[in-house]
Amino acid sequence: MSPSSAKRLITLEEFIIQGQNRFRGATGELSQLLRDIGLASKIISREVNKAGITNILGLAGSQNVQGETVKKLDIFSNDQMLHAFARSGIVSMVISEENEEIIRMQSSSGKYVVFMDPLDGSSNIDVNVAIGTIFSVFMRKSDSEDYPVDEDALQPGINQVAAGYVLYGSSTIMVYTTGIGVNGFTLDPSIGEFFLSHPDIKIPEFGSFYSINEGNYNGWSPGLKKFIEYCKEKDEATKRPFTSRYIGSMVADVQRTLLKGGIFIYPESIAKPKGKLRLMYECNPMAFLVEQAGGMAVDKHGNRLLEREVTNIHERSEIYMGSRDNVQLCADYMKRYRKTVSSGTKAFEPAEV
Ligand code: AHG
Ligand code: MN
Ligand code: MN
Repeated sequence: MSPSSAKRLITLEEFIIQGQNRFRGATGELSQLLRDIGLASKIISREVNKAGITNILGLAGSQNVQGETVKKLDIFSNDQMLHAFARSGIVSMVISEENEEIIRMQSSSGKYVVFMDPLDGSSNIDVNVAIGTIFSVFMRKSDSEDYPVDEDALQPGINQVAAGYVLYGSSTIMVYTTGIGVNGFTLDPSIGEFFLSHPDIKIPEFGSFYSINEGNYNGWSPGLKKFIEYCKEKDEATKRPFTSRYIGSMVADVQRTLLKGGIFIYPESIAKPKGKLRLMYECNPMAFLVEQAGGMAVDKHGNRLLEREVTNIHERSEIYMGSRDNVQLCADYMKRYRKTVSSGTKAFEPAEV
């Protein structure tokens, strides 16, 4: 094959720069931030691949062969991401699942606030199942001359300027959006480079998968129960029963939902009235990606999740997201049943935990 007939591969780096060049006056800072995340994720990916062998060589907390203390993989990932954000000085605050408090970076003038789940699906590490890193980027509201304040972090999801995830699966893939579509880059570990592998990802309008932890069925709202029963009924015309798929790593479940369509749900329930997932570093970034890919992400009332007001950096939220047709139908079920409830039957009121 002559060099000219070879398929021209676009690296993450090139793609980011091309995107930046499309905006006159762009300072390149967001591009720098995405590159920093790309680098940190390569280091995490390497470590994730070693996780099995690390188990043989020493468990978290013990000493490895170099005499260093072996860190838990989620703490390691947290550290790597924080190093990356410290490197370029453009991030003033980081909010991480691993840190109770807001982390204020040395560069207090940095204009970005980043939320992250450094390692999502961590209960799957020990069983060699896919895990990931999730990030969400906001522009701070206060002037960069001033010291960043807590309010800079409390912004609704619609204000995100970028969001994405890295999935450490059978291969490592970084998927992100800056608000103009969604693109995916697969890591070639032999040369340590991400290449554009999934340009302009569009979620199918309808998909025949539903993804939810069905063990919690008894605690769900009646509308949700009815919707899941609908998914299981046999009807050839509507391609039912749908296929149930639940990995238990949100990143992996969302990746499948983006590519194959269907619905992913982590609902409110009696045991978990606000659901389990965190609004700012699990739900919002995924909702942004799903919308940018042409899908929908809503709360239990069928309202757009990205418009939810936030009061606490670690707050939880229920989430219903995926292909438009599936999500709309689920929202309709929940609405329809709620109407019946208000006209007399026993209401679903999740008890406080
Ligand atoms: P994390 O590992 O960051 O705590 O997140 C785990 C999350 C998410 O990845 C997944 O969708 C969900 O927990 C699974 O929860 P259940 O086991 O309750 O289904
Ligand atoms: Mn998580
Ligand atoms: Mn986590």
